[in-house]
Amino acid sequence: MSLGTTGLNDTITKEFLLGKFSEVFGDSDGARVFFAPGRVNLIGEHTDYNGGHVFPCALNLGTYAACRLRNDSLIRLYSMNFEKDGVIEVDVLTDLKNSKEYKWANYPLGIVYTFKMHGFNIDRGLDILFFGDIPNGSGLSSSASIEVLTGFVLSSLFGLNVSKKELALFGQESENKFNGMNCGIMDQFASAFGKKDHAIFLDTATLEYEYVPVNLKNAKIVIANTKVKHELTTSAYNDRRRESETALKDLQAVTDIKSLGELDEESFNRYSKAIKDEVCFRRARHAVTENLRTIEAVKALNADDLETFGKLMNGSHRSLDLDYEVTCKELNIMVESELQVEGVIGARMTGGGFGGCTVALVKNEAVDKVCSEAGKRYEELSGIKPEFYVIEVGDGPSEL
Ligand code: GLA
Repeated sequence: MSLGTTGLNDTITKEFLLGKFSEVFGDSDGARVFFAPGRVNLIGEHTDYNGGHVFPCALNLGTYAACRLRNDSLIRLYSMNFEKDGVIEVDVLTDLKNSKEYKWANYPLGIVYTFKMHGFNIDRGLDILFFGDIPNGSGLSSSASIEVLTGFVLSSLFGLNVSKKELALFGQESENKFNGMNCGIMDQFASAFGKKDHAIFLDTATLEYEYVPVNLKNAKIVIANTKVKHELTTSAYNDRRRESETALKDLQAVTDIKSLGELDEESFNRYSKAIKDEVCFRRARHAVTENLRTIEAVKALNADDLETFGKLMNGSHRSLDLDYEVTCKELNIMVESELQVEGVIGARMTGGGFGGCTVALVKNEAVDKVCSEAGKRYEELSGIKPEFYVIEVGDGPSEL
């Protein structure tokens, strides 16, 4: 079993990336290197497009870019994660549209497009080499990290002074409109606002946020990668979003609310008969209870009450499984396997669901055991060898 970070980010240096940049683009004169992180969400899942709270933190894993402006209008993009795709070349003045042939590059290109839509004058191209150390398809927001990174690169190279909030909002807009995934704001916000050793308690209705120290003296945050990614992710995600909106519309016929995040349990119980469809009712119940769990969890963390935090994580997973139906067999096996290990305080799926990772709060002395025992049980029941990462909470975007 592997334990640790992906092990890659210790070896990623500016020199290494500039060396690769030279190999691909001829030389590295004047090139600069930037980084933006991925995220893990501790609690508050599928609440960010329902006006609720989320509680993510940035990772010290993410995406790097070595880049330099060009004197013409070509963007030439290369990813060390998709070397087979070679250099993808696009004219920023004439060819900026989502296209199958641009493959992974639709993510950074969407940001260039979104900047232009917001009136920023991106009239020159650039050479840009990406490298990501977030495990592929793990649900730790590699797409948000490349979006925020590209925004940060454009802001830095063109001297645009784009704020963190705009970086997050442009990232979300690009993902929604350019790439067709109706995600909420959480991932891009976590990447843009990341702060070392802190999680971000964000109210997605107002974008007000608070940094909460994650000083776990006796415990660690352990991510387990189930190594599965089920195909229906985007369409099922967009379905969940629609079902939540249908529930909201039904509720708005009987109470004056703008989002599900405004309801507490009592008001939900009072009005929920208005939700006509049983599935939409359960989606709304998750959005409401998950928001309340998130608020409680932050209170518990501030009071150093990890036991309560862990119970809320377990409740979150159950609700995501039964009411929101975004877990899958492998995520459930992993969470159950982790919870069987003594010293695991709480465990849940993290991110959009349908595969990807779980996040667990684990007492220091049980970390190795989780990896070996839960890992073994998971492998026996699913036939897949998982990976475990003990994470550190990192900062937002930076230049190396
Ligand atoms: C994905 C989306 C986020 C959020 C989570 C679920 O990661 O990108 O906006 O909705 O799923 O909490």
